[in-house]
Amino acid sequence: MNSLKDLQNFLSQSPYQSCKKFILIDENTFSYCLPELIEEVDALNGAEILEIESGEASKSLAIVEQLCGALIESGADKSSILISLGGGVITDLGGFIASVFKRGIRHIVIPTTLLSMVDASIGGKTAVNLAEIKNQIGTIYQPIFTAIHFPFLETLDQRQILNGAAEMIKIALVCDSDLWDKMRNHSPIDEIGFDEELIISCINLKEAIVEKDLYEEDLRKILNFGHSIGHAFESLSISKGEDLLHGEAVAMGIYYEIRLSELILNFPKNKAKEIYDYLRKYYKIESIKENINEILNYIIADKKNFEDKFQFILLKDIADPQINIPISKEELLATE
Ligand SMILES: NC(=O)c1ccc[n+]([C@@H]2O[C@H](COP(=O)([O-])OP(=O)(O)OC[C@H]3O[C@@H](n4cnc5c(N)ncnc54)[C@H](O)[C@@H]3O)[C@@H](O)[C@H]2O)c1
Ligand SMILES: [Zn+2]
Repeated sequence: MNSLKDLQNFLSQSPYQSCKKFILIDENTFSYCLPELIEEVDALNGAEILEIESGEASKSLAIVEQLCGALIESGADKSSILISLGGGVITDLGGFIASVFKRGIRHIVIPTTLLSMVDASIGGKTAVNLAEIKNQIGTIYQPIFTAIHFPFLETLDQRQILNGAAEMIKIALVCDSDLWDKMRNHSPIDEIGFDEELIISCINLKEAIVEKDLYEEDLRKILNFGHSIGHAFESLSISKGEDLLHGEAVAMGIYYEIRLSELILNFPKNKAKEIYDYLRKYYKIESIKENINEILNYIIADKKNFEDKFQFILLKDIADPQINIPISKEELLATE
């Protein structure tokens, strides 16, 4: 795992020393992260700053066009480096721009939210939204360097920490039962995102999966556990104009997909109960029955429909994921 000091050493090497550098930020990372970055990484002194407004709305083609124009105006060329300093919005957008500007320039990622550290900044997926449809346009483009600086997490509020913690819980349940045992004895909020050691474990697990299957042909699909139902809750909240973060939706998705795992794959009941209790302690779990028709429509829109069944990733046990498990509407209803 690279630190800001490693980034300073990396950028001091001859091919990068003389390149023009651009740092993409939003108003929050401008205030909370940029001063420390410049202080720690001398090589970024004099870099041009590109600032966008925080929020999902900035992941748009209009902003891509605007930022590419700004890059050209500032004399960016093929050898320039774009540094994304922010949460998943900045790293997705910056990655997309780096992958298409002049057919690709070098990208450096410095994630500053828990969610972007453990998830969005790993695996090269870049994206912008098309109208309200999330991540419809994107590329797979790996950064040349990723730097992790834990103190950046100190200015996140509790909700943002829990947002990232949901993805940590997911990866532990899918890949590593010892990690889950450690997590369930910790609070994700007392220590930021459990603690540094657990964050590092999650980063390593995702990196190992992505290394084996960058293009999500098979293995990487297991990372979508919790996301079939999670995405449906997320879309539902967007349609109702409610404020629900991705990780909050994923926590509900994990809850109901563990229920399905229990019903269909005999996931051990005692472990399931521990997971439900833990999730209910930190997240609001909404009813699936109350919104079943909308939830079903979103799942149908999201998934290949196979003889009236939807393909889910479920768990036979902790760290034993099974892909392409067919689920019917009746089985979904039986989760409550
Ligand atoms: N590419 C992928 O594989 C992948 C995976 C998961 C999520 N995503 C994407 O990531 C995005 C969500 O990422 P996110 O949750 O990081 O949201 P975000 O980027 O919107 O950040 C959340 C908020 O925290 C602020 N912030 C960032 N760093 C801060 C800091 N250190 N201190 C205080 N405030 C800070 C931001 O300005 C923003 O207001 C979504 O667009 C999602 O689609 C991508
Ligand atoms: Zn997710």
